[in-house]
Amino acid sequence: MTEVWTVNPGRPDVRIIKKAAELIKKGNLVAFPTETVYGLGADALNSEAVKKIFLAKGRPVDNPLIVHVSSGDSVYSLAGNVPKEADVLIREFFPGPLTIVLEKKPIVPDETTAKLPTVAIRMPSSRIALALIEASGTPIAAPSANKAGRPSPTKAQHVLEDLDGKVDLIIDGGATEVGLESTVVDLTVKPPQILRPGAVTLEMLRGVLGTVHISPTNTQNLVDRELVARSPGMKYKHYAPKAELLVVIGSDNDVQRKISELINDFDTKGMRIGVATTTGKKYHVNHIESLGVTKQEIAKGLFDVLRRFDEVDVDVILVEGVDEEGLGLAIMNRLRKASGHRVIDA
Ligand code: TXA
Ligand code: MG
Repeated sequence: MTEVWTVNPGRPDVRIIKKAAELIKKGNLVAFPTETVYGLGADALNSEAVKKIFLAKGRPVDNPLIVHVSSGDSVYSLAGNVPKEADVLIREFFPGPLTIVLEKKPIVPDETTAKLPTVAIRMPSSRIALALIEASGTPIAAPSANKAGRPSPTKAQHVLEDLDGKVDLIIDGGATEVGLESTVVDLTVKPPQILRPGAVTLEMLRGVLGTVHISPTNTQNLVDRELVARSPGMKYKHYAPKAELLVVIGSDNDVQRKISELINDFDTKGMRIGVATTTGKKYHVNHIESLGVTKQEIAKGLFDVLRRFDEVDVDVILVEGVDEEGLGLAIMNRLRKASGHRVIDA
């Protein structure tokens, strides 16, 4: 049975956090909000507990988990040979939506890192997450709390949709602030490489580290299967809605014109059409969702909108893309994945 307890994200109820921490200590699963998305948590140092995460999500066992800590100092007890770039990132961006990949110490079980010699670590800024890690007295391994292949959950309701009966407790702290998963940066290579873009942007990382590369699997339209995916999560299909999804990029005018054209084409074929707009344009289609206009709004609502499209009867979803500056890189990365890399340059 899955219990759902509501907690004020600004002032988490200590008694509820304590009960949740007891479950973590006993080796059970607790889903909790972070500032990015909801996580499915277990004691990161308990291999039996960690196995339950893979089982509940249906996650391939070769896809490693992020270990969540409640202080920057904890990084040094989980990772060895920590480079100075890590010190900088910890100082600048912890707590926050950034995960760093470092050489792992033996204390971290193979189950958590999928046998990799490295460990991904992040200190979330969400008060609920921090309080839970603190009260558990152990780092918490937590992937996004969705069923494998579904969009990451940004509301407790999404977790319930995917994992009802498979998780002992869901802490409901309302909609998450950022809406996209953390930036993952590999610091075991030189120069550092972004494995997954997020709200700590490429520009922000370059601002403090100098040269930073971005893994090619994040930007190209068609995935070259031969490319070495250093972050194993990158090779799995993600976020895919049931309907076919196409993303259109370019200037606002070009995007709107191209989408109108596509609507005509699909319409003559008798297809039911959905649109997700980022420019606010009204199209005459079967279902339209507004993603908001600012990149912050778009990021925050994107996964919720993708889930909502699964509940309406459309054959194709046309999405107005955004430019890849700042948070736009992370938004387009998720849209590329959701579309199976079908991005049309208008
Ligand atoms: O915002 C987030 O990061 C959320 C919240 C819950 O913290 N968590 C999350 O976890 O998105 P997950 O498991 O859905 O995504 C973790 C990503 C995967 O792409 C995985 O392959 C990568 O991080 N990863 C984990 N450990 C790694 C490692 N040792 N080396 C390279 N990539 C790693
Ligand atoms: Mg995930």
